[in-house]
Amino acid sequence: MTDPQRSDPRTESVPRARIDELLAGMSLEEKAGQLSQYFYFGAPDAAVGEAPQAHGEVEEVLARGGAGSLLFMTDPAEINRMQRLAVEGSRHGIPVLFGFDVIHGLRTVFPVPIAMAASWDPETIERGQAVAARESRAVGLHWTFAPMVDIARDPRWGRIVEGAGEDPYLGAAVAAAQVRGFQGDHLGAPERVIAGPKHFAGYGAAVGGRDYDEVNLSDAELWNVYFPPFQAALAAGAGNVMTAYMDLNGIPASGNHWLFTEVLRGRWGFDGFVVSDANAVRNLVTHGFAVDLADAAARGVNVGVDLEMAMTDPAYSHLPEAVERGDVSIEAVDACVRRVLEAKLRLGLFEEPYVDVDRARTVLADPAHREVARVAAERSAVLLRNEGDLLPLDPASLASVAVVGALADSKRDTLGPWVFDFDLDETVTVLAGLQDRLGGSTEVRYAPGIRPAQRKFPSMFDMFPGNTPPDPENFDDEAELQRAVDLARTSDLAIVVVGEWQQMIGEAASRSSLELPGRQLELLQAVVATGTPVVLLLLNGRPLDLRWAVEHVPAILDIWYPGSQGGTAVANLLLGDATPGGKLPFAWPRTVGQVPINYAHTTSHEPVNQARRYWDEESTPLFPFGYGLSYARFGYADLVLDALELNRDQSLTASVTVTNTSDRDGDEVVQLYLHQRHGSASRPVRELKGFRRIHLEAGASETVEFGIGPDELRYWNAAVRDFVLDASTFDVWVGGDSTAQLTTTFTTTGQ
Ligand code: BGC
Repeated sequence: MTDPQRSDPRTESVPRARIDELLAGMSLEEKAGQLSQYFYFGAPDAAVGEAPQAHGEVEEVLARGGAGSLLFMTDPAEINRMQRLAVEGSRHGIPVLFGFDVIHGLRTVFPVPIAMAASWDPETIERGQAVAARESRAVGLHWTFAPMVDIARDPRWGRIVEGAGEDPYLGAAVAAAQVRGFQGDHLGAPERVIAGPKHFAGYGAAVGGRDYDEVNLSDAELWNVYFPPFQAALAAGAGNVMTAYMDLNGIPASGNHWLFTEVLRGRWGFDGFVVSDANAVRNLVTHGFAVDLADAAARGVNVGVDLEMAMTDPAYSHLPEAVERGDVSIEAVDACVRRVLEAKLRLGLFEEPYVDVDRARTVLADPAHREVARVAAERSAVLLRNEGDLLPLDPASLASVAVVGALADSKRDTLGPWVFDFDLDETVTVLAGLQDRLGGSTEVRYAPGIRPAQRKFPSMFDMFPGNTPPDPENFDDEAELQRAVDLARTSDLAIVVVGEWQQMIGEAASRSSLELPGRQLELLQAVVATGTPVVLLLLNGRPLDLRWAVEHVPAILDIWYPGSQGGTAVANLLLGDATPGGKLPFAWPRTVGQVPINYAHTTSHEPVNQARRYWDEESTPLFPFGYGLSYARFGYADLVLDALELNRDQSLTASVTVTNTSDRDGDEVVQLYLHQRHGSASRPVRELKGFRRIHLEAGASETVEFGIGPDELRYWNAAVRDFVLDASTFDVWVGGDSTAQLTTTFTTTGQ
């Protein structure tokens, strides 16, 4: 892989004169066209069937300069064809931007984003998105609608799988790493694409976890929890931001002046372009906010939503009417067009609008990309339980292994949601990975046990071929369950794979329960009842109800949706060629009734009863935030601060010695948490303020250092409506998860 030449994004010249010249020659209709982004699902005979936006219509729109951007195309030859229509057909020869949801890979599929976050490894994350960018740019894409940086504290919300979980500090680190990976160090870097953090803002806090429903967030939560990942993505140079669908505190996010004008552009100085989520400008009418589409268009432009993503009939095509009515000025329209043209110029699209189809083929086939995906899958897995060191397995003692559960043998589900351009032939399932790895000496036998579960209500992604779980006609439920049990009984070990089928998670995939869908718990219980030792593998993007499993299953490994090379990675992990080192990016609830259950809560009356807030169930999580085991063991000692009192501009360094006390090499994620004891607001019991994933050989020690300064100590105070840094005493904890015990204190003077 080539690395782009390093240069400073801030010193890149803005091609202002060229933009002025283009703007001067454009009609208002052409300007409105530049601000419209159309879905294009390909020719009408494509497997997805008739798309909402008829393909002929998009071609006709392009040829008259009526579209600034297209989305959902990945075939380089088709991209060239459409680009030619735009460049040759329009008066000004303005190329279109091709955008797509490259969320966790294009051809090479990486573990889902929540899994990548569980690696707690910004380098792995950056490397993965750099591969995704390279493949995307090679096929002619310029821009990805990623990363999704929405904080998610309610796992009923299906899109938790697309983000980095519950924590703003981890979320910010993951967001920045993704932007660096996608975009390189400046917009227009070779083999990179524009990154578009989304969905601004608060989308993950939908009431009831119901996707698209309204969000009500306090000022303090927005600034302290939901905004930091966006700020980090922008600080890393992201060139685009996407709006969110829902109402935020009573105002539709996509028409929210405060969000876009005051915060994003005003306070943070964002000068890239903003795109609406799909149909979200039109939806300003649906919300009961705008009176009609012209009003919706005016409101969108007036808050600085530059480009409208539209399934059909963009509201922005009504901009001429809105200008005529006096609802929006031509200057406001020009400001949007300017930002869209600037992105195109910076990418060099006017000089090189087309893509090399042959080269695309070579880049997509690059075996180095698959290796990055395998390593990422190994580094994302989280070992939740390993009683009696059942793992890693010793193949010499295993004459036969039973692999049970339909998800073990499903290529499509191994990849996870939000991928469209994958290659199933080269996707390695858990079953295939184990057969490859163990096949010679150990007999690997498979039984699905139960038929795949189904959604009660269909998914909007069902239109993509192969996206729904199969519903085999001649599946004899009782006989298959019995066959799985018999297989387990007559094997030395059973590996049971359970979880959610991939279209049960993601967008429009919220659910009211966290139980294993279908009869999976029954299958697991039946296999465990045979007395054969069981290793449980989870294919998931949200926490699931594991209360029975943690009582009865000795080993549980969360492999998420591990991507193209998932099965190979899983075999390496189970056999000890790789050691699990991932940690949970969310607190894992016992039951759905506990959500939200984020670790960074505040204390109030009777904190001694914090774990007994419900009378029928613990109010602690099943696994804490930051938790994950290793085949190695780690000890923490000598937590030392190099200063015990700080003035407001000062920083200190905390150091701690971590020792691998076992006889196996392994990785540990060293985590630092802070708590402010008193001040001008009450602060969470703990907040993550530093982490580092380290590798320690058996018996080795390393001293790890963390800086603590104003960035770690200040917070948004809702009463003052600004950031404050209080005079207080701070507790520091360092350890391997959010229940870390090694502690010390320091004070701040506030002066
Ligand atoms: C999603 C976005 C996505 C867009 C385009 C929307 O429904 O909310 O995250 O980028 O579709 O696929």
